[in-house]
Amino acid sequence: MRKIVIFGLKDYAELAHYYLQHDTADEVVAFSVHRQYMPENAMFGGLPVVAFEDVEKIYPPGDFFFFAPMSPKNMNRDRETVYLAIKSKGYQCISYVSSKATTFDNVIGENCFILEDNTIQPFTMIGNNVVLWSGNHIGHHGVIRDHVTFTSHVVMSGHCDIGAYSFFGVNSTLRNGLRIAEGGFIAMAAAIMNDTDAWSVYKGNPAEKLKIPSTKVRF
Ligand SMILES: CC(C)(COP(=O)(O)OP(=O)(O)OC[C@H]1O[C@@H](n2cnc3c(N)ncnc32)[C@H](O)[C@@H]1OP(=O)(O)O)[C@@H](O)C(=O)NCCC(=O)NCCS
Repeated sequence: MRKIVIFGLKDYAELAHYYLQHDTADEVVAFSVHRQYMPENAMFGGLPVVAFEDVEKIYPPGDFFFFAPMSPKNMNRDRETVYLAIKSKGYQCISYVSSKATTFDNVIGENCFILEDNTIQPFTMIGNNVVLWSGNHIGHHGVIRDHVTFTSHVVMSGHCDIGAYSFFGVNSTLRNGLRIAEGGFIAMAAAIMNDTDAWSVYKGNPAEKLKIPSTKVRF
């Protein structure tokens, strides 16, 4: 049984605790956040909260694992920063793949949070620090690169290549064989027909590129 420290005190952290507790043999032992966000009683979900600055003194990297399933805020770059900080302390991050997801020997990186009813078809690879919320179809022979978020009920057809830091709104759809360049923001219900440009926003059916860059979008 692995002993896990979860980063964060918000919804994603609370849900990660719930899923690990109810759907794995892993044991969550603590939460960790930067000192400025420490709660007064240093407790969350019935477990101790430890300042991230000191966490390795109490939960050393050889004995404990980390999990940092954070939101896509700032085009997934906040989650990347925390993930890299955890790695630089020498921790190994776990990935959670729901027992209610359908997978086929896929290569899946670390610090991934893959919830119920995702279907990840054969020969598709998933990088590090990827969130697949519930109910996505991840088609065959695809690649999802690092620090990507799929919200819910996205259809990624076969042979797609998803660039790092991309975000997919609910119910968005990708034609087969497309390349979504780094930092793509695909709006909810958008239907993507062609390859996309880096750090761009696409909306509508058929999807059109908006003038603002994805780094400026509020969602
Ligand atoms: C791209 C996005 C951020 C645009 O949001 P926004 O800038 O707040 O858009 P607004 O609500 O100001 O709407 C601007 C216009 O675009 C339209 N619009 C907004 N989102 C749209 C979408 N996804 N598809 C088509 N039209 C859309 C609005 O109807 C409005 O039209 P109008 O000017 O004729 O009235 C939003 O559509 C989106 O995809 N958010 C992600 C939501 C999501 O998937 N959340 C997952 C839960 S974690």
